[in-house]
Amino acid sequence: MYSDKVMENFAHPKNAGVLENANAVGLVGNAACGDILKIYLYIEDDIIKDVRFETFGCAAAIASSSMATEMVKGKTIDEALALKNEDIITALEGLPPQKIHCSVLAEEAIAKAVDDYRRRQKEKND
Ligand code: FES
Repeated sequence: MYSDKVMENFAHPKNAGVLENANAVGLVGNAACGDILKIYLYIEDDIIKDVRFETFGCAAAIASSSMATEMVKGKTIDEALALKNEDIITALEGLPPQKIHCSVLAEEAIAKAVDDYRRRQKEKND
Protein backbone atom coordinates (compact mmCIF):
# COMPACT_ATOMS: atom_id res chain seq x y z
CA MET A 1 0.00 0.00 0.00
CA TYR A 2 2.90 2.37 0.73
CA SER A 3 5.82 3.38 -1.50
CA ASP A 4 9.40 2.54 -0.49
CA LYS A 5 9.94 6.23 0.24
CA VAL A 6 7.04 6.27 2.69
CA MET A 7 8.28 3.12 4.40
CA GLU A 8 11.81 4.50 4.62
CA ASN A 9 10.61 7.78 6.20
CA PHE A 10 8.28 5.92 8.53
CA ALA A 11 10.89 3.40 9.69
CA HIS A 12 13.70 5.97 9.97
CA PRO A 13 12.07 9.36 10.38
CA LYS A 14 14.28 12.41 10.03
CA ASN A 15 14.06 15.27 12.54
CA ALA A 16 11.85 13.42 15.02
CA GLY A 17 11.59 14.74 18.56
CA VAL A 18 11.38 18.01 20.46
CA LEU A 19 13.43 21.06 19.49
CA GLU A 20 14.41 22.64 22.79
CA ASN A 21 15.38 26.05 21.36
CA ALA A 22 12.38 26.33 19.01
CA ASN A 23 11.06 29.84 18.50
CA ALA A 24 7.95 28.72 16.64
CA VAL A 25 5.57 25.82 17.13
CA GLY A 26 2.66 24.60 15.03
CA LEU A 27 0.16 22.07 16.34
CA VAL A 28 -2.60 20.56 14.24
CA GLY A 29 -4.94 17.64 14.61
CA ASN A 30 -7.43 15.77 12.51
CA ALA A 31 -10.68 15.19 14.35
CA ALA A 32 -11.72 12.30 12.09
CA CYS A 33 -8.69 10.07 12.70
CA GLY A 34 -7.52 11.63 15.96
CA ASP A 35 -3.95 12.10 14.76
CA ILE A 36 -1.86 15.01 16.02
CA LEU A 37 1.19 16.63 14.48
CA LYS A 38 3.47 19.19 16.08
CA ILE A 39 6.24 21.03 14.25
CA TYR A 40 9.02 22.92 16.01
CA LEU A 41 11.07 25.50 14.11
CA TYR A 42 14.13 27.49 15.02
CA ILE A 43 14.14 30.51 12.71
CA GLU A 44 16.84 33.14 12.39
CA ASP A 45 16.64 36.04 9.92
CA ASP A 46 13.59 34.37 8.35
CA ILE A 47 15.60 31.20 7.61
CA ILE A 48 14.58 27.87 9.11
CA LYS A 49 17.79 26.79 10.78
CA ASP A 50 16.43 23.75 12.55
CA VAL A 51 13.23 21.75 12.64
CA ARG A 52 11.77 18.80 14.54
CA PHE A 53 8.42 17.09 14.73
CA GLU A 54 6.34 15.01 17.07
CA THR A 55 3.60 13.06 15.38
CA PHE A 56 1.08 10.91 17.14
CA GLY A 57 -0.46 9.32 14.14
CA CYS A 58 -0.36 6.84 11.33
CA ALA A 59 2.60 5.77 9.20
CA ALA A 60 1.68 8.24 6.45
CA ALA A 61 1.54 11.12 8.94
CA ILE A 62 4.98 10.22 10.31
CA ALA A 63 6.45 9.83 6.81
CA SER A 64 4.85 13.14 5.71
CA SER A 65 6.25 14.89 8.78
CA SER A 66 9.71 13.49 8.17
CA MET A 67 9.67 14.50 4.51
CA ALA A 68 8.16 17.94 5.14
CA THR A 69 10.76 18.79 7.77
CA GLU A 70 13.54 17.77 5.38
CA MET A 71 11.99 19.93 2.66
CA VAL A 72 11.79 23.12 4.76
CA LYS A 73 15.13 22.86 6.56
CA GLY A 74 17.40 25.72 5.45
CA LYS A 75 14.57 27.42 3.55
CA THR A 76 13.10 30.87 4.08
CA ILE A 77 9.76 31.07 5.84
CA ASP A 78 8.14 32.17 2.57
CA GLU A 79 9.53 29.08 0.83
CA ALA A 80 8.23 26.93 3.68
CA LEU A 81 4.77 28.46 3.31
CA ALA A 82 4.85 27.63 -0.39
CA LEU A 83 5.25 23.92 0.43
CA LYS A 84 2.01 22.18 -0.44
CA ASN A 85 0.85 18.73 0.52
CA GLU A 86 1.09 17.71 -3.17
CA ASP A 87 4.84 18.45 -3.00
CA ILE A 88 5.15 16.18 0.04
CA ILE A 89 3.20 13.43 -1.72
CA THR A 90 5.40 13.71 -4.81
CA ALA A 91 8.54 13.54 -2.67
CA LEU A 92 7.12 10.45 -0.95
CA GLU A 93 6.44 8.88 -4.36
CA GLY A 94 2.73 8.84 -3.69
CA LEU A 95 0.24 8.19 -0.90
CA PRO A 96 -2.93 6.10 -1.03
CA PRO A 97 -6.08 8.27 -1.54
CA GLN A 98 -7.33 7.66 2.00
CA LYS A 99 -3.98 8.94 3.33
CA ILE A 100 -3.86 12.26 1.49
CA HIS A 101 -5.11 14.11 4.59
CA CYS A 102 -2.00 12.96 6.49
CA SER A 103 0.16 15.07 4.16
CA VAL A 104 -2.25 17.99 4.55
CA LEU A 105 -1.62 17.85 8.31
CA ALA A 106 2.12 18.31 7.69
CA GLU A 107 1.52 21.29 5.39
CA GLU A 108 -0.84 22.86 7.93
CA ALA A 109 1.52 22.32 10.87
CA ILE A 110 4.34 24.11 9.06
CA ALA A 111 2.06 27.00 8.11
CA LYS A 112 0.87 27.23 11.71
CA ALA A 113 4.44 27.27 13.03
CA VAL A 114 5.35 30.10 10.63
CA ASP A 115 2.25 32.01 11.78
CA ASP A 116 3.38 31.48 15.36
CA TYR A 117 6.82 32.86 14.51
CA ARG A 118 5.32 35.95 12.84
CA ARG A 119 3.02 36.52 15.80
CA ARG A 120 5.94 36.30 18.23
CA GLN A 121 8.01 38.68 16.07
CA LYS A 122 5.15 41.14 15.99
CA GLU A 123 4.73 40.97 19.75
CA LYS A 124 8.45 41.63 20.15
CA ASN A 125 8.26 44.68 17.92
CA ASP A 126 5.07 46.13 19.41
FE1 FES B 1 -5.04 10.62 10.01
FE2 FES B 1 -2.96 9.56 8.89
S1 FES B 1 -4.86 8.58 9.25
S2 FES B 1 -3.10 11.48 9.83
